[in-house]
Amino acid sequence: MEPTPLRWQGLPAAPSRLPRQSEAQFAGDVSVLLEGELLSGVRYRTVKRMTDRLPFFITCPPGLEQVVLGEARRLKLRGADAVRGGVAFEGQLEDAWRANLWLRTGIRVLMRVARFQARNQDELYAGVRGLDWRRFLAADGTLVVSARARESKLDHTRFIEQRVKDAVVDQFREVSGQRPSVDRVAADVHIDVHIYKNRVSLSVDTSGDSLHKRGWRQEQVPASLSEVLAAGIVQLSGWDGRTPMLDPFCGAGTLLIEAGLIAARIAPGCFRERFAFEGWPGHDVAGYGALKEQARAGVALPKKLRLIGSDWESVAVEKARINAESAGVGDLLEFSVERAEEFAPRPGWNALVVTNPPYGERVGEEEALLPVYRGFGDAMRRNCSGYNLALLCGNRNLAKALALRPDGYDALNNGPIPCRLLHCTIN
Ligand SMILES: C[S@@+](CC[C@H](N)C(=O)[O-])C[C@H]1O[C@@H](n2cnc3c(N)ncnc32)[C@H](O)[C@@H]1O
Repeated sequence: MEPTPLRWQGLPAAPSRLPRQSEAQFAGDVSVLLEGELLSGVRYRTVKRMTDRLPFFITCPPGLEQVVLGEARRLKLRGADAVRGGVAFEGQLEDAWRANLWLRTGIRVLMRVARFQARNQDELYAGVRGLDWRRFLAADGTLVVSARARESKLDHTRFIEQRVKDAVVDQFREVSGQRPSVDRVAADVHIDVHIYKNRVSLSVDTSGDSLHKRGWRQEQVPASLSEVLAAGIVQLSGWDGRTPMLDPFCGAGTLLIEAGLIAARIAPGCFRERFAFEGWPGHDVAGYGALKEQARAGVALPKKLRLIGSDWESVAVEKARINAESAGVGDLLEFSVERAEEFAPRPGWNALVVTNPPYGERVGEEEALLPVYRGFGDAMRRNCSGYNLALLCGNRNLAKALALRPDGYDALNNGPIPCRLLHCTIN
């Protein structure tokens, strides 16, 4: 069961500036890390045992940090703190299990395993080599390394990745004669290296595949939203979990399905075949199994909730139905084929419309879409008095064509496209 009932708090106040991850201190640094070990001359801090309080970092799409923070707090993850690009917390491996299973807006949960100074490749190599990688990887397993570096002597990321990989592989070769190999697509262990001002943070990805890959999706339309962004939009919309929610440009149904999962307390990670931590040597199968079982037992489809989607493409509507069934919320969702310009939901419902119309990226598409936006804006004014609207759009001219005055907006990115989630009250 989700540890605390979701509480919807409306629009979170975005802080004017979130600190960068590298500037922020993990709250647990002192208790978690041992300082002063000397390893090949490298000043070295590392996690002592897996039972210590470990520092974690949840990565997320830009603009969703406060939403992730809210989720982390509801999951009672200790010391949760938002920085640019994600949320840091501290805890034990079981907390990372819960985070992976329950987070709706995180992309990955990284576990930091060491921090040390490296001004040259030898210090980097020694720092990595000094950790016991058998905790995460079998000698015949696979790994992949990704690196970022800023304001540091070591700044060639490909080279950093190579040296880190060499250090891990050499350790295994020396101890067992066997060596893990690199797999860029489906590695057992993903090592994340972050170097800032010559300080190396080494993390191991506990998630594996990005958490947006929930496992429920069977179908998509050309511009389907990522599940993570959709869950973020639903939470930013201020939905209370009970008010009817409508999506008149529903495509393959991502927004309504993510809303349905929230309302039914279905853990977004329950569809996944595997998280990375499940492949680590010594993984506690029974312990994690019990957590999943508890999650399954807490599912409760609300009886009266209305989640209604429409699209002018019958193919899209069929896809949305298939996805909703696969996500276990088919009974909660209703779909129909309709033009958004004729949107006329039930008067007096005071429902919430959450949607992302197409916003065309190629030349000529904006022109073709202007009448759709004008028509939809008219329909909202004509038929939806008392409703609220949260609409994601990546094109200002189209957003203006709605002729609805937003009360505010959230800045988000849909993939590489900067977008705004506009919030309007329809009077
Ligand atoms: C950006 S996609 C929505 C994607 C959806 N949120 C998802 O995750 O799958 C926009 C959808 O609007 C639909 N659409 C475009 N013009 C429309 C109109 N005038 N009335 C209704 N639907 C329309 C398209 O068929 C497409 O499925």
